[in-house]
Amino acid sequence: MTYQNLTSEIKENILYVTINREKSLNALNRDTLNELADVVVFANENNEVKGVIVTGAGEKAFVAGADIKEFSDYNAKQGEELARKGQEHVFNAIENSSKPFIAAINGFALGGGLELAMACHIRIAADNAKMGLPEVSLGLIPGYGGTQRLTQLVGKGKAIELITTAGMIDAIEAEKIGLVNHTVPLADLMSKAKEILDLIKQRAPLAIAAAIKSVNASVNAKEGYETEIKSFGKCFNTADFKEGVSAFLEKRKPIFDGK
Ligand code: CAA
Repeated sequence: MTYQNLTSEIKENILYVTINREKSLNALNRDTLNELADVVVFANENNEVKGVIVTGAGEKAFVAGADIKEFSDYNAKQGEELARKGQEHVFNAIENSSKPFIAAINGFALGGGLELAMACHIRIAADNAKMGLPEVSLGLIPGYGGTQRLTQLVGKGKAIELITTAGMIDAIEAEKIGLVNHTVPLADLMSKAKEILDLIKQRAPLAIAAAIKSVNASVNAKEGYETEIKSFGKCFNTADFKEGVSAFLEKRKPIFDGK
């Protein structure tokens, strides 16, 4: 498989996927999402693959979010479509994959980046990781399932605090609240992820798939995801969104009017 925005290789039955847009801190643009969607299909269909490790290129970022530059002039309809398509083909597809996905978080995991990590079945954070859902500082909300999966992982109170303050937490705090499974030194990140998949690899594949399906069924809240998609789209028609994105691109603080 050759991709423009990802690297992927199979070693010892593990598919290693690296988001490879280091200059943009591995932000998820449309092409990267399309390639990720392909990789999920490939992982599901390929018998050699027993599990997947997803990480980001470089040492600064796992993924710093959806690509803000790409959606800066979107309207509500385009915003809604972005969220719906992304959720269906990438984030839900990962969560519903019969193969276990581990996110190896090697730096910033923000917005769509944290949402990608949360769609994976297990999260390992390096000690330099910083996590958050900062969309409200752009006049947006998370659109790739973040309002739902963060709430499932850490509970409603912590989720609302993290989302509404646009705060960033480090790996230790993330482990404390249940957002990540383990925190390790950056140098040990990939070996820790591999260690877990090496255990899973020895178990019965059909039982693994059934376990993932059953655990997912315990937190299936379709209405929540639909509310998020529609609300995310509506944000694109606000003056606050225009201000938030302009401020990001101009590297200044936004001034919001609530309009
Ligand atoms: N989209 C597009 N480009 C991004 C990006 C993103 N999400 N995050 C970083 N970049 C780009 C920057 O624009 C910059 O590009 P230039 O060199 O061309 O200026 C480059 O990556 C390096 O970033 P910074 O100079 O900003 O690096 P920093 O060390 O000063 O700051 C950071 C790092 C705190 C992660 C900062 O880049 C940042 O805040 N990024 C945006 C995080 C964010 O808001 N993510 C949510 C996106 S919206 C979303 O994800 C919606 C959704 O749920 C669907």
